[in-house]
Amino acid sequence: MLVLTLSVIAFALYWTWRWRVTSRLKPPAYPGWVPLIGHVHLFIGDSISLWNIVKEFSYTSLKMGGVISASIGPRTIYVVTDPDDCLTVANTCLQKDDFYNFAKPWLGEGLITGTLSKWKHHRKLLNPAFSQLVVDGFQGVFNSQARRLVKDMETEVGKGPFDHRTYTRRNALETICLTALGVEFCENSVLNSQYEHAVEQILNMLMERLQKFWLHSDFIYNWSNLKKKQERCLVILHNMSNTVLETRKAVYLNNKKNGLEASTGIKFKAFLDLLLELSTEKGAFNDLEIREHVDTMIAAGHETSANVLMFTLVMIGSYPKVQERIFEELHDIFGNDDRDVTKQDLSQLVYLEAVLKETMRVYPIVPVTMRCLDRNVKLKNYTLTAGRTCLMLVYGVHRHAMWGPDAEEFKPERWLNPATLPHSPNAFAAFNIGRRICIGKSYAYSSMKTTLAHLLRHYRVQADHKKMILKLDVVLKPECGHFISIEKRYNVNL
Ligand code: HEM
Ligand SMILES: *[C@@H]1O[C@H](CO)[C@@H](O)[C@H](O)[C@H]1NC(C)=O
Ligand SMILES: *[C@@H]1O[C@H](CO)[C@@H](O)[C@H](O)[C@H]1NC(C)=O
Ligand SMILES: *[C@@H]1O[C@H](CO)[C@@H](O)[C@H](O)[C@H]1NC(C)=O
Repeated sequence: MLVLTLSVIAFALYWTWRWRVTSRLKPPAYPGWVPLIGHVHLFIGDSISLWNIVKEFSYTSLKMGGVISASIGPRTIYVVTDPDDCLTVANTCLQKDDFYNFAKPWLGEGLITGTLSKWKHHRKLLNPAFSQLVVDGFQGVFNSQARRLVKDMETEVGKGPFDHRTYTRRNALETICLTALGVEFCENSVLNSQYEHAVEQILNMLMERLQKFWLHSDFIYNWSNLKKKQERCLVILHNMSNTVLETRKAVYLNNKKNGLEASTGIKFKAFLDLLLELSTEKGAFNDLEIREHVDTMIAAGHETSANVLMFTLVMIGSYPKVQERIFEELHDIFGNDDRDVTKQDLSQLVYLEAVLKETMRVYPIVPVTMRCLDRNVKLKNYTLTAGRTCLMLVYGVHRHAMWGPDAEEFKPERWLNPATLPHSPNAFAAFNIGRRICIGKSYAYSSMKTTLAHLLRHYRVQADHKKMILKLDVVLKPECGHFISIEKRYNVNL
């Protein structure tokens, strides 16, 4: 009897102890849990309400120590905003979450959505196509594209507020075609605006499917109207990438036949030529894989930098002192000359770069990334359980206490002095962190700095960032209120 009692007590003590140890390792839960559905009700709505809930999760996660959990029906997800814990997750689990599979009909085995085994192999093969040396070779195109943008926007001078995103997006789309893909076909403006519209729509549909959790199952989704809509978009999207591919391939094969070095008029291999070469000479990619890489590059390369430029112009227009300081920097480097921006100039545009970074900190263009935990992950204070989903909320990371009490303010100056920056480099995650960091980061900086240098030498911008209403369609963008107005500057020799 005594033995039995003692063992019951011992057993109870053991379980209490175990429970306390494991619950200490478990992150706290987001408030508002409802039996059976968990937190699902919070995610229902449109992409504006989704953005608001992402912000709330960011602030709650920050307040509760940087890691929290939430339940989507029977599934548990983690929400991380601690910069160093984000790096641990990002480098321990390289596999994207299943949500990215929703985009597979569009982007297939490209770098963003591809399976991990393909990604490892292909990322290594493709890295050289985005090295700084290659990007420097694009400088001529960046300059002529920037001049084109200046010219296109001229019709808006003095006419009051206009939607500048239509300009930055078209320009970025052309730039990516001219550089990475080596194709000028984007001249065809009808296909162009169709393509832009299709990208906009498909991003919105991805979010709709995420929010309508009953559509997560392929079986139900296959019968839905949403799927039919998506199919229509895919025809347009894939027609564009197929056309790019066929155009370039013809040139490539023709040059090869005539013993010419396949060239885009620049002295290096553009991304698409590298793909074609690796596939014809080493059989590294099949035709479908090439198209999927092309789709991924067009999408990832234009939608992101066009939106960052759009936000940056809004911020510059909202902060006249910032604008004057940029202009002074430009004046110090270029004087009254309207010459091209060189590689050396880029490294001198220190304040302009600070403005870009600060804009991306305040408005991270990819504010949420997701990983699938393929193993238990030990963080600073908690252990995350294998098999679950982990969200990294970049929006929260960029407002972590490490940024100081002025984290909510737009202050480009903070980037000029290491003492006013966080001690952890992981606190800035606009391009993601760790091994799956954006492949186009150097490309993005060079092209955006060149574009802004030209634009701001010619125009004075006015805007009000407080009017923006934002939404989350995979990337962060304004639903409305992102208008700027421009005036000509007359101190430049044209
Ligand atoms: C300001 C501009 C840009 C920003 C803020 C940005 C941001 C990002 C982020 C956050 C990711 C990680 C996405 C995720 O894990 O879900 C990413 C990945 C990627 N980006 Fe960018 N990007 C920019 C420009 C570009 C450009 C210009 C290109 C191509 C020319 C590009 C190509 C890619 C690719 C291929 C990936 C997938 C990388 C991988 O998983 O290996 N991006 N980018
Ligand atoms: C970890 O715990 C320490 C001490 O309790 C706390 O100060 C810190 O904010 C926690 N960090 C995370 C990432 O949870
Ligand atoms: C849904 O449709 C796709 C093709 O569009 C097909 O590959 C997939 O097997 C279908 N899934 C189910 C569960 O019916
Ligand atoms: C794309 O669409 C155009 C016009 O609808 C058609 O002529 C062309 O053959 C299509 N191209 C490809 C590669 O599917």
